Amino acid sequence: MMAMAGSAVGLGNIWRFPYIVGEYGGAAFILVYIVATIFLSLPVFLSETIIGRRSRSNTFGAMEKLAPGTPWKWLGLATVISTMILLSYYSVVGGWSVEYLFKSLAFDFTGVPSEEMTGVFGNFISSTWEPVVMHTIFLLMCAGIILGGVKKGIERFSKITMPILFILIVVIMGYAISLPGSGEGVRYLLKPDWSKLSAEAVAAAIGQSFYSLSLGVGTILTYGSYVRREENLLASSAGTATSDLLFALLAGFAIMPAVFAAGIAPGSGPGLVFETLPFIFNKMSGAVPLLGAIIAILFFLTILVAALTSAISLLEVGVAYLCEEKKLSRPVATGVLFVFVWGIGILCSLSFGSLSELKILGCTIFEFFDKLCSNYLMVLGGLLFTIFVGWKMSRDDVRDELTSGGRYANRIFPALWFLIRYIAPLAVLAIFITNLVL
Ligand code: PHE
Repeated sequence: MMAMAGSAVGLGNIWRFPYIVGEYGGAAFILVYIVATIFLSLPVFLSETIIGRRSRSNTFGAMEKLAPGTPWKWLGLATVISTMILLSYYSVVGGWSVEYLFKSLAFDFTGVPSEEMTGVFGNFISSTWEPVVMHTIFLLMCAGIILGGVKKGIERFSKITMPILFILIVVIMGYAISLPGSGEGVRYLLKPDWSKLSAEAVAAAIGQSFYSLSLGVGTILTYGSYVRREENLLASSAGTATSDLLFALLAGFAIMPAVFAAGIAPGSGPGLVFETLPFIFNKMSGAVPLLGAIIAILFFLTILVAALTSAISLLEVGVAYLCEEKKLSRPVATGVLFVFVWGIGILCSLSFGSLSELKILGCTIFEFFDKLCSNYLMVLGGLLFTIFVGWKMSRDDVRDELTSGGRYANRIFPALWFLIRYIAPLAVLAIFITNLVL
């Protein structure tokens, strides 16, 4: 369960959430995001854990076990492809955090004017070799942990880092809010401007919620297959969703006030956090010598770990499939997937520089994959997982999973069943169609 929280809390909370909030206008977006997490993401999360634990299999095998001989197994296979695409560009951003960890170790954030730091980020991502090397380092670390196996590698890793990350974000938030000019940022996060809430923003909020909780691509299903029968699925799922939400909100309140204090545009895209954080660390060191430098090191280290615990959950989907279905050994499965993800990742990385003119449907390669995953693949996956649980599995089986065979009383089961069977699929379908039309 700690590993599930490790999968959920990652770059999606710290890197993606603040800049998406910035692009779609602040408080109103956040409210939709919170409502979507409770009423849509939680049912999808439960659906994936139910399928996983019931079948005790990888995504493909799970469908074959619970619905033998039906086309549902192709959904299982499709998730393997989705996770590999997602991991390829996730690893590029993971590489950015490796670079920023190195920079913080070299005390690069001390005494540099913030305008310069913005330029530093732009130069870094648009260069050819450095980001590719960092992407490679990140992916190698990820593969290394995967080879250690789920228990030794993944679980141990997640347990220590989450509390540290939490404390650091709270410290940074406290400091950011105290900066002159930050009040505007706090207002931006708390005072909804409903006129900015377009259909596109609503769809993006739901996409972000799915992204942040690792939904629709089979990671939660795969981890669910390792959850013990005695574990209370509802409590753990709700716990994961709550902590993920909390992390995102804290990151928002740590970054956005600083964005305003530094005079950076909130809608400036994927670089937002990497451009803003050095500003905070620099100011901190101005106030108390070295404080910013030390917090920077700790912060980028924990971000890196948070990113790794998410990345391994993506890689595990493919590894579990290849090991269980194709009978490959763990090292061979990891190696095969590594080559694939590494190659696509290089293209994503170059799309900030030498390949920036190459457009797919008006987007760079990186933007295209990000949109493809969060607006289509994750949404479609989430839709199909809820349909599977709500309409293909029996009510008794679902109740049995949600109560661990009667071990836990689950008084809200009828409400959950209603959400899984009707509300979530209909709402998610509406979002999918909205995305297609837009
Ligand atoms: N939830 C992860 C994050 O917030 C990203 C992720 C998405 C991980 C999908 C696994 C599957 O960073």
